[in-house]
Formats: sequence, structure tokens, C-alpha cells
Amino acid sequence: MPQRNPIGIFDSGYGGLTVMKEIVHQLPQYDYLYLGDSARSPYGNRSFDTVYQYTLQCVKWFFDQGCSLVILACNTASAKALRTIQQNDLPKLAPDNRVLGVIRPTAEIIGQFSETGKVGVLATNGTVASESYPMEIGKFFPELTVIQEACPMWVPLVENNEQQSKGAEYFVKKNLENIFEKGEDIDVILLACTHYPLLKETIEEYLPVGVKLLSQGEIVAESLADYLQRHPEIEGRCSKEGRHSFYTTDSTTDFDQHATVFFGQEVQSKHVDLDAAVK
Ligand code: DGL
Repeated sequence: MPQRNPIGIFDSGYGGLTVMKEIVHQLPQYDYLYLGDSARSPYGNRSFDTVYQYTLQCVKWFFDQGCSLVILACNTASAKALRTIQQNDLPKLAPDNRVLGVIRPTAEIIGQFSETGKVGVLATNGTVASESYPMEIGKFFPELTVIQEACPMWVPLVENNEQQSKGAEYFVKKNLENIFEKGEDIDVILLACTHYPLLKETIEEYLPVGVKLLSQGEIVAESLADYLQRHPEIEGRCSKEGRHSFYTTDSTTDFDQHATVFFGQEVQSKHVDLDAAVK
């Protein structure tokens, strides 16, 4: 019998809990270990190499905890670090383990929602600059036009609990106007950042009628369910007692306050010092 361990879920901070919430909803039977690198977040404006180094260190930590499967719930980490980790690091570190991201599952299905053939992607500067979404979507739906808009103010607004404020309205309106100026017949808008679902109400207010708004949590959860079904060798190494544990690289008090909002249930985290924990 293989040793069974939790599924690892990683984010730069607590935002990935919007994804974990949907994963737990769809797959409640598994154990989950969440790590938020809050001490070094946000990742959104950091360079490729920095995001890669930070993400790799966190992935190593998950492997040290015994996780066979790690989900990068962070778009920026998925955009800037996942490919290198999968291609260069995994074969050396733990060839039987798997690291998955949030971009591919979204790219695989986004075309199903569009009739005009134009989709809009709202994300951090880093995700937009990486061009990961246009590239991945192009593999599955080459006929689609992908229009991107970086919304660098949205993460700080959410982190400061300003999602209902006039400031949030101003920046949401501004970024939506920008993206629809670039592509007026966009009929699908993807929230390609962990934090953006918390701005959903404000976004819906300024969204043109008939445009569909997609959040990633459900998409990623469905894709994970499908992956586990297709990969019994990985599924068989995931423990199933419905337990959740949370770790942060920063203060647990601050993490728990935000995490409870993002996860929709009370969160009690533990602190981890990655430099001490990961060799
Ligand atoms: N988790 C990040 C993402 O989904 C947003 C926060 C950050 O910039 O670190 O892109």
C-alpha cells in the first residue's frame, strides 16, 4: 500500500483559498494542506526568476511534507514558474510527484463559453506579461482572440478590504472600460487572479449586459476531479479523511483574518519558516 498524504494547495498568500474552497466543495473526501507565502506576497509584480525561486521553494516544502500532488492555485505562479518546475525540477526532485496549475484547466474550456470568438482575461501584471493565457488558450481554441488587461490595483483593494468602496468602483470601471475598448465584442470575461472573485459584485455592476463572467475555482475543481479519476497512481497516494491544514510564511493572525473571508470558514493557520524548513 502506498503512503497516503494530503493534496497540497499553494498560493502567494490567502487568495488561493477561493480556489481551495471550490475544490473542497467538489472533493470533500480528500485531505488538503494549504501554504500561503504571505511574507513574500504579492507575486503579481515580481520578476520571472523571483516567482520561480519562491514557488520552487514552496513546492519542495510540500514534497517534504509528503504531498504527491501540488496545485499551484496562484495564477502568477502558474504563469511564471509551473512550466520550469514541471520540465526541469520535477524529474530531478520527485519524478513520481505532480505539480498542476490553474491556467491549463481554464484554457481547455474557455472557448465553450464564447460566441463572438473574443474573450477577455483580467489578471496581474505578471500573468499578463507572461502571455500564458493567450498561448495556452491558443492550443485549444486557435480561432479565439484573447484580449488581456492587467489590473494591478485590484489585489491591494481586496487585501485592504476595500472591495465595496468607491475606490474599487473606480478601478473596476476603469479596467473594464479599457478591456472593452480593446475588444468591444468580448462576450466572456475571465477572472484570472485568485483575488478577483471577491470583487465579483462590483464587476457585475459595470459589466455590459450579456457578457459572461468566469471565476476559476469551479473550473479548477472539476478539472482536478477529472485528473484524479484518470490518474489512479496519484489518486491512490492522496489521503482521504476530509482534513484541512493551513500554513503561512507570515503572521498567522493576519493570515487567519483574511483567510476566513476567502475560504468562507474559520481558518487557523500555523507559521512556517521556509528558509529553516527547506534545505
Ligand atoms: N495569487 C495571485 C494570482 O492569482 C494574486 C496575488 C499576488 O499577486 O500574489 O495571480
